[in-house]
Amino acid sequence: MNYLAPSILAADFCELGSQLDIIEQSKVPYIHVDVMDGMFVPSISFGMPVLECVRKRTKRFLDVHMMVQSPERYVDEFMRLGADGITIHVEACDCVHETLARIKSLGGKRGIAINPETPIEQALAYIEEVEMVLVMTVRPGFGGQSYIPECLDKIRNIRNEINKRGLSVDVEIDGGVRLGNLKENLDAGANVIVTGSAVFKGDIDKNIKSFLQIMNGA
Ligand code: DX5
Ligand code: ZN
Repeated sequence: MNYLAPSILAADFCELGSQLDIIEQSKVPYIHVDVMDGMFVPSISFGMPVLECVRKRTKRFLDVHMMVQSPERYVDEFMRLGADGITIHVEACDCVHETLARIKSLGGKRGIAINPETPIEQALAYIEEVEMVLVMTVRPGFGGQSYIPECLDKIRNIRNEINKRGLSVDVEIDGGVRLGNLKENLDAGANVIVTGSAVFKGDIDKNIKSFLQIMNGA
């Protein structure tokens, strides 16, 4: 099953409520919530107050991407505020096993993320303890960047390993995904597609429909 996950990092924050309503009406199941701390990544995006407001506004699955150093400090609070899934970066956490177990104990979907330069083995080490692997296809920290083509093989190799082990783990891609590179990523085995600027810049509903047309046809 393919899922589109619009990243609200690319939303107009002065219009966030009405833009969330458009996502709600589109029935897209996921909303990708990019939390950035200015430490693990250079930017600071938003945190608890925005997550709390977004939770009140939408029933969509809140797919929280923690670009945060030592994310274990925030798992309980984010789950309490309404996160449905939390993805942590293997590069940012010294207690990945424990943190993933904590997310599970609180009822959350567990995700492990790797940056473009991080070998897939660092994610595969946790493949039996997660419901999703997030393959960053840009350097984390900013929306609107160009897709890093070398990541395609990482996606394919992770998907092959998941299939080989007979696991049911989603492969999420995140960063620089556009209509033009969507099909090759789907074919490589990505099934949760994060996209920010390609949805939120311009006509949101039209952009979503264009993505779903390709995803449903894949
Ligand atoms: C980057 C974020 C991505 C980004 C995607 O660090 O994790 O989710 O917002 O934005 P686009 O699709 O515009 O690259
Ligand atoms: Zn993200």
